[in-house]
Amino acid sequence: MSVTHESAADTRILTSESVTNALRYVAYPGLTRDLVTFRMVQHVSVCDGRVKIRLGLHTTDESIPGRLESSIRDALVPLGATSVVVEIVEPTASPVRARHGTPDPWSDQVRLASVRHVIAVGAGKGGVGKSTVAVNVALALAGDGLRVGLLDADIYGPSLPILLGIEDGASRVRMSAEKHIEPLHAHGLPMISFGFFLGEGSPAIWRGPMVSKAVKQFARGVAWPELDVLVVDLPPGTGDVPLSLAQAVALSGAVIVTQPPRVAAAEARKAAEMFRALDVPVIGIVENMSGEFGRGAGPAVASELGVPFLGEIPFDASVVDEGDRGVPTMIERAHSTTALAFDGIAASVAAALGWKRVP
Ligand SMILES: Nc1ncnc2c1ncn2[C@@H]1O[C@H](COP(=O)(O)OP(=O)(O)OP(=O)(O)O)[C@@H](O)[C@H]1O
Ligand SMILES: [Mg+2]
Repeated sequence: MSVTHESAADTRILTSESVTNALRYVAYPGLTRDLVTFRMVQHVSVCDGRVKIRLGLHTTDESIPGRLESSIRDALVPLGATSVVVEIVEPTASPVRARHGTPDPWSDQVRLASVRHVIAVGAGKGGVGKSTVAVNVALALAGDGLRVGLLDADIYGPSLPILLGIEDGASRVRMSAEKHIEPLHAHGLPMISFGFFLGEGSPAIWRGPMVSKAVKQFARGVAWPELDVLVVDLPPGTGDVPLSLAQAVALSGAVIVTQPPRVAAAEARKAAEMFRALDVPVIGIVENMSGEFGRGAGPAVASELGVPFLGEIPFDASVVDEGDRGVPTMIERAHSTTALAFDGIAASVAAALGWKRVP
């Protein structure tokens, strides 16, 4: 890819550093975050106003390279770039680190010592059933003999205390001697919700850096027992929480929940692009509330994105009541069609993480 632009008498001196800085303001197409934040900038070279940029990224959306190239050009030509060449490669080499004293938010990403796999459950859209799926899939994984924990990272609307029937959690949660949060137990699963710590504070008005700090402390500050899988319930959308979570702890993958209609599918696609940009593998797509609103968006999005379709959960009015009562479907109606659907999805998730179910 190459464009040339002869700018008359441009005296500004372009350096690889000023180009990297400019790329901080170039958003990844369709998302709000920039290329540097997503660690996509692998290499920048500048010679006499001619700029070469190598980006490491993985996308199945064929429009992305062209859109990226044109927004990069729009950002660099006004700074005096006379030609801009953008090369896109698989994200393998280590990205350009943040410079100029800006701390690199990725530099201190950790692996949680007692947790083998951290997986996130997300969606581009609110109310599609992320939390319901997170809870029931976690219980189904535990039913398979895995050691499973649940982290409610929905700082804007934590719902796991209700779904798991531990609304008194805030008054029961304790810190260990080492100043770690001790998880509570609900239906046999160790769990912690951001909701236990909100008090009067309202993260709805928090700015990005506050969210990032809170999510990091929260994601790393829990004294989890030995776990095979920690399931993280995310807030809707592609905002600060998934980004901060991915920067804070190494994620093994993400499960994306969608509803059957096409509008939800577009949002699911966006969520998948975000996880890919964050270098988090997409484990697969779940279609929730199938039947009532149609059917089929899940498999369509999955095949379009080249990721597995993990299965569909039927629309089932009893799920609402079970959620309100804090007794998840996997416990209340373990043999129902809906529970079997959650179970099938859990089996696929476990397989993606390397476990085989023994018949
Ligand atoms: N398969 C289903 N059938 C019927 N109702 C469902 C199903 N799955 C979830 N629900 C209901 O839909 C509502 C939203 O579910 P849930 O809270 O899990 O969604 P969410 O995506 O986590 O929402 P938010 O974006 O607010 O975090 C709840 O009332 C829940 O009981
Ligand atoms: Mg939720």
